[in-house]
Amino acid sequence: MADSLTVRDNRTGKEYEIPISEGAIRSAEFRNIKVSAEDFGLLAYDPAFMNTASCKSKITFIDGDKGILRYRGYPIEELAERRKYLEVAYLLIYGELPSTTELRDWTHNITYHTMVHENIKKFFDGFHYDAHPMGMLVTTIAALSTFYPNAKNIFDEKTRELQIYRLIGKIPTLAAFAYRHSQGMAYIYPNNELNYAENFLTMMYRPPSTSTYEPNPVLAKALDVLFILHADHEQNCSSTAMRTVGSSHADPYSAAAAACAALYGPLHGGANEEVLKMLEEIGTKEKVPEIIRQVKAGDRLLMGFGHRVYKNYDPRAKIIKKIAEEVFEVTGRNRLLDIALELEKVALSDEYFIKRKLYPNVDFYSGLIYQAMGFPMDIFTVLFAIPRMSGWLAQWKELLQDPEQKISRPRQIYEGYPERHVPP
Ligand code: CMC
Repeated sequence: MADSLTVRDNRTGKEYEIPISEGAIRSAEFRNIKVSAEDFGLLAYDPAFMNTASCKSKITFIDGDKGILRYRGYPIEELAERRKYLEVAYLLIYGELPSTTELRDWTHNITYHTMVHENIKKFFDGFHYDAHPMGMLVTTIAALSTFYPNAKNIFDEKTRELQIYRLIGKIPTLAAFAYRHSQGMAYIYPNNELNYAENFLTMMYRPPSTSTYEPNPVLAKALDVLFILHADHEQNCSSTAMRTVGSSHADPYSAAAAACAALYGPLHGGANEEVLKMLEEIGTKEKVPEIIRQVKAGDRLLMGFGHRVYKNYDPRAKIIKKIAEEVFEVTGRNRLLDIALELEKVALSDEYFIKRKLYPNVDFYSGLIYQAMGFPMDIFTVLFAIPRMSGWLAQWKELLQDPEQKISRPRQIYEGYPERHVPP
């Protein structure tokens, strides 16, 4: 057989022919490899899924060695330059860019689902004044499931679509409410006359005493591009959480809350906040060599560097570096930029980083832009979660429509005690 793998089990001397399809073998084939009839069969051991494809997907393509990222075949650079975030969200979920009418309907549906039930405000009121906005976001996304019990009908297409509108529509509102709560400021309701990014900025920053707040168009545009860059990234930790919880047929609010919780971690979406803390701690360019020394000694990680998939410059980081210039024209240059540039320069010319192919990732420069735009540090990961909602939902929908998918249930290698008995 041409496209196959011949495996010889040296324990038994038997040979097995395992088909190769699309550059992969099915791990289940190993179950036929046994030493005896009672043997369970061979397992593939792969902690952290370093080399396991858990699904077939048509959504996002990444070539980590070449630094390529495409949504539904379109290069991220072209989407960021030529489209708006809501068009990209449509593309991720439905597979094609929207026509004019499709975009009009889609925008209408998202816009008219931005309001949240008044009781949601009571959840925010219950949080302590210094509650982390990601904690509030995870909780209130999960809480939405109690307001829409019908969302459990995940195989009814119309019901599913409605929850997609609601989740993409409401996440900026929840995010802004979380911020306003932490500032002790009155909540600002969504404004249906504004576009997605403008509406979010208005809910964040409009003083309650005026109705004339106008978001800066350059900043609103920059935020929209950042939303595009963060919308999906194939089978990352949070999408995997979305798919795993979704595979038990939980409603999409519960699954999205799990995904959001995964994003919160400092090794995933929480890294943008950690980068800023690190830059603040470094404080001056002169301290960069000392930080690099600590990283090389294994005492700390260089936050915003490295990626499981990219072993080249993250294409999103390149675009972000460009947007940063446009934003700084309006806001003034972020004083931490020089430290970041120096850190990048030193790291990219150091043997430690070269050998391990560690490059700046999406989080390295995004925090500098967010800070210049006036966002407090603890809202950075929330700014990642808002657009990633469309990616999570695209992954969730694909999962539900994939006849090969079942409830997620990995195996383990048990290393604990053999049977023993409780003393009488
Ligand atoms: N600083 C210093 N060394 C690093 C870093 C880093 N940021 N990242 C990886 N390494 C080293 C690591 O110690 C290991 O070295 P050795 O081979 O000597 O043991 C080698 O590089 C390979 O790293 P790894 O931990 O096996 O790589 P991974 O694929 O498991 O981890 C990562 C990927 C993103 C979790 C990791 O690079 C990291 O912790 N980076 C910092 C956090 C960060 O910026 N996260 C945002 C990721 S991009 C946005 C997103 O997807 O959420």
